[in-house]
Amino acid sequence: MNFPSLSNAKKRTDKKVEEKKVCYDFPNFFQNKKYFLRTYGCQMNVHDSEEIKKYLELLGFVETKELEESDLVVLNTCAIRENAHDKVFGYLGRCKHLKREKPELLIAIGGCMSQEDSVVEEIKTKHPYVDIVFGTHNISELPRLLLEHQKKEQEIEVYSIEGDVYEGIKYQRDSKITAWVNIMYGCDKFCTYCIVPYTRGKERSRKLENIVFEVQELKKQGYKEVTLLGQNVNAYGRDLQLGYDFKDLLERVAETKIERIRFVTSHPWNFTDEMIDVIAKYENIMPYIHLPLQSGSDSILKLMGRRYTKKEYIELFQKIKKRIPNVSITTDIIVGFPNETENDFLETLDVVNTCQFDSAFTFIYSPREGTPASLIKDTITLEEKEKRLQRLNEFVNRYSLKANQALEGKIVPVLVLGENEKDKTRVYGYTDTMKLVNINKGADCIGQIVSVKITEAKSFSLDGEMIESGECV
Ligand code: SAH
Ligand code: SF4
Ligand code: F3S
Repeated sequence: MNFPSLSNAKKRTDKKVEEKKVCYDFPNFFQNKKYFLRTYGCQMNVHDSEEIKKYLELLGFVETKELEESDLVVLNTCAIRENAHDKVFGYLGRCKHLKREKPELLIAIGGCMSQEDSVVEEIKTKHPYVDIVFGTHNISELPRLLLEHQKKEQEIEVYSIEGDVYEGIKYQRDSKITAWVNIMYGCDKFCTYCIVPYTRGKERSRKLENIVFEVQELKKQGYKEVTLLGQNVNAYGRDLQLGYDFKDLLERVAETKIERIRFVTSHPWNFTDEMIDVIAKYENIMPYIHLPLQSGSDSILKLMGRRYTKKEYIELFQKIKKRIPNVSITTDIIVGFPNETENDFLETLDVVNTCQFDSAFTFIYSPREGTPASLIKDTITLEEKEKRLQRLNEFVNRYSLKANQALEGKIVPVLVLGENEKDKTRVYGYTDTMKLVNINKGADCIGQIVSVKITEAKSFSLDGEMIESGECV
């Protein structure tokens, strides 16, 4: 399969998004129309959806949470595993049904699946009722596509270029307390199982001064926390060759004095000692690192193209633990990579037992068309892979609970984000170490960092009480 994004990549150019004036030229063109947006996948897609929402609202659309009420459906898709793909096509079935009853309904598909040739082909041939297909490189073109679509033909516009970086993007942010900030786009790592480099293109870092400016603006608007986003944040800056890297960016962002800084995702291969030192040095850089392991077996890591060994991963893990007091480290693990033996799997369990992660996302390997790993003939049955996943999860959950239990009785700082959806008498928030805490009372403290005494630990969350009820620190 050919991914266009690799074949004709052009040189990077930085542009101002205001050049895309369409939504300003036709404000409120879709006044009183409702849009329904569904987001799949990672934080990058969640943040892209905040950009999509802004364009739609500039055009006059208002958001609805009810599919049946909508005049426009946008599916922002993910391609990382087969089930993500199936979920989107399943949901599209519902949209098709709705369109039968409501022929004027507009359906637009964006995100990572749109960058796959085979998906575009499938939409063209099997889903002619889809109105617009746009990709990850041309989100800012969605307003133009919507306006042009008045001529009622299926419109497919997926860019193969990947050079542009837009500045000045406006977002309809979901939260007024925490904000996502892109620091780079794309990925050059080409792990052999992964589709992201094909759907998101080459690594392109934003210039440091633009990122710092965005954080300063967010701080002025009252945001308490920013999460710096990149598939591989440790590689930040390398493509720019301007003499700065991720540690420099972290320092400059820390100096804005925004209260909390997080970043995802770290790749063990690019994690330098200087970066660890900067994280340890600044109080507003949170002691939390998501450090995907993927496998504990050297031969599988090699086949995956991960560029580190089991020993190197453990050494890095231990170095981070030693230098950053109180740090919590989480991970991603794939089981059932083609031909993973029982011994390979035991190596993974061994790392889990050694590192005792605060939590882990665990997945069964899913072959992605066009990636090198998908060409490897696999002899392991799905049943065996499922058993391994179950065995792995038993350990992972045990250590999550253990890490949470270690906090029982302790007083921790929690940034309160909102009311607990199920129980309005409680609020929820996250510790500096990224643990979810449900807190009795404290509605007055939404948006504040408060001291909370942990009363009970569960596997995936903590219960706590505000030290002095209603008092914010
Ligand atoms: N850039 C990040 C993560 C990207 S995708 C990193 O390198 O860590 C998030 C997670 O999905 C990955 O860490 C990996 O564990 C999982 N993943 C990616 N491709 C997969 C595949 N083909 N099958 C199963 N899991 C996969
Ligand atoms: Fe995928 Fe590897 Fe890039 Fe992460 S680092 S996005 S797993 S290719
Ligand atoms: Fe999915 Fe694309 Fe993110 S494939 S995980 S939405 S980068």
